[in-house]
Amino acid sequence: MTSQTPDQTVLVVGANRGIGYGFVQQLLPQASQIYATYRQIASPELTELAAQSPQLHLLPMDITDEAQISSGLAQIRRQVERLHLVIYCVGFLHEGEIQPEKSLQQIQPAHLLRYFEVNSIGAVLLAKHLIPLLKHPERSVLACISAKIGSITDNQSGGWYGYRASKAALNMLMRTAALEYSRKSPKTIVAMLHPGTTDTRLSAPFQRGLLPDKLFSVERTVQQLLAVMDGLQPEQSGEFFTWDGSPLPF
Ligand SMILES: NC(=O)c1ccc[n+]([C@@H]2O[C@H](COP(=O)([O-])OP(=O)(O)OC[C@H]3O[C@@H](n4cnc5c(N)ncnc54)[C@H](OP(=O)(O)O)[C@@H]3O)[C@@H](O)[C@H]2O)c1
Repeated sequence: MTSQTPDQTVLVVGANRGIGYGFVQQLLPQASQIYATYRQIASPELTELAAQSPQLHLLPMDITDEAQISSGLAQIRRQVERLHLVIYCVGFLHEGEIQPEKSLQQIQPAHLLRYFEVNSIGAVLLAKHLIPLLKHPERSVLACISAKIGSITDNQSGGWYGYRASKAALNMLMRTAALEYSRKSPKTIVAMLHPGTTDTRLSAPFQRGLLPDKLFSVERTVQQLLAVMDGLQPEQSGEFFTWDGSPLPF
């Protein structure tokens, strides 16, 4: 989506805070309709933005519940025929007692499953149900916010087993989905994007020692990722990119 293209419809999944909320803020002036999802209770800032913006629609969607994904998308289909941009911003690194593992001794199967459920499976379930909204003659983009740490080739430092593996799985699931989309919805470009370390609740406990130029504001990350999405070419579908548009190895 570019600022020159009117009547663009957008879905931001995981829009309650952080990078997802930043996408909603920046896309509002350009989009004709924006659908924004939250897990349980819409945050005060998202609620406030929706109250001021008739084109912004809020939907509950816990990504671990397929029925909520399908009913949320059915609600969108009752209002619009097509989506042009879908951004999957859901993800977690720490949640309650789940913390990134520093060693094998900290591996817990239930925690690994939770990482996969939220960070990987949610995205492919979304891709499963999105085809009717993305399959149309205009260009569309399905972007998933991944993480460089999910690159198997790039893994030189170890640790964070569950988060790493769930992002590697996200990349594999969405690359596979990209191949199926190329047949079933050929105008859709599927991409996995590394945002760079960004100042959100997710990164907050791990920011100590980072040089200021290595920590992006949400606003900067969103601007950079929108520029990458704008420049994506059909033959790049299924690829993994960092925030400046350079390709990352799987
Ligand atoms: N921040 C970074 O430095 C960084 C670096 C690399 C990659 N990333 C990736 O960027 C994406 C966005 O992260 P962020 O930094 O913006 O983190 P954040 O501020 O913690 O936001 C996480 C989002 O995920 C949603 N979410 C979590 N579990 C969910 C579930 N079960 N169902 C539906 N939504 C759920 C949250 O929704 P609720 O608020 O409704 O719970 C929230 O909107 C993630 O995929 C993350 O892995 C971030």
